[in-house]
Amino acid sequence: MKILITAGPTREPIDPVRFLSNRSSGKMGYALAGAFAHEGHSVLLISGPTQLEIPANVDFISIQTAAEMAATVASYIGKMDIAVFAAAVADYTPAAFAPQKIKKLGGTVSLELIRTQDILSSARTTFGFNGTLVGFAAETEDLEANAREKLVRKQCNLIVANDVSDPAIGFDSDDNQVLLIYPNHTTPLPPASKQALAMAIVEAILEIHGKFTPV
Ligand code: PMT
Repeated sequence: MKILITAGPTREPIDPVRFLSNRSSGKMGYALAGAFAHEGHSVLLISGPTQLEIPANVDFISIQTAAEMAATVASYIGKMDIAVFAAAVADYTPAAFAPQKIKKLGGTVSLELIRTQDILSSARTTFGFNGTLVGFAAETEDLEANAREKLVRKQCNLIVANDVSDPAIGFDSDDNQVLLIYPNHTTPLPPASKQALAMAIVEAILEIHGKFTPV
């Protein structure tokens, strides 16, 4: 099967030396890519900047910004059976890029931000993807309710929900703890390394895909 995975952070440039980003290390997405490849599937990993090695037998495209990630996903998702969105994509990007390094001025500085494209939400509506669609939800409160709202609004078959208020799990940690949010039920997975969780998540996704009838 052909699997597309997004991973890591995006970087939204402010000027030639500054950007907006987040603490995603890419570990969760890379572990998923490795686990799918280990099961013999054809994997395309689309990733923002990380310090990680590309997993064996995985095709790889490096991107920097949310706009680049959206354009790359749009180019490839039509060929895929399964798409998994583990990236922490910036929701906002600077309205303008300053071509020269911004100088220090007195007082405060305001930065105007505009919304980026929601790539996961675009998968069905704009890119016409009709395979198995899996999103992540990074929440700091009301984990299950907020993740379930994303499942419906973004037309996913599964949401992997993690509580990112706990520094021991979620962003930039080796471990994670997730809820698998299905349309009709929720399955909690116990805390584990991202590698071990990736195997369990891959198994759950492949099971859904086996049962899934394209829309
Ligand atoms: O990279 P690690 O350090 O290993 O950390 C893993 C993780 C915490 C980043 C990962 O497990 C995770 O939760 N990824 C999703 C982070 C996120 O942006 O969640 P969200 O709830 O804001 O977004 C919901 C979904 O929409 C996600 O699938 C996200 O990839 C997608 N999205 C969001 C915004 C956007 N503009 N485009 C998107 O595709």
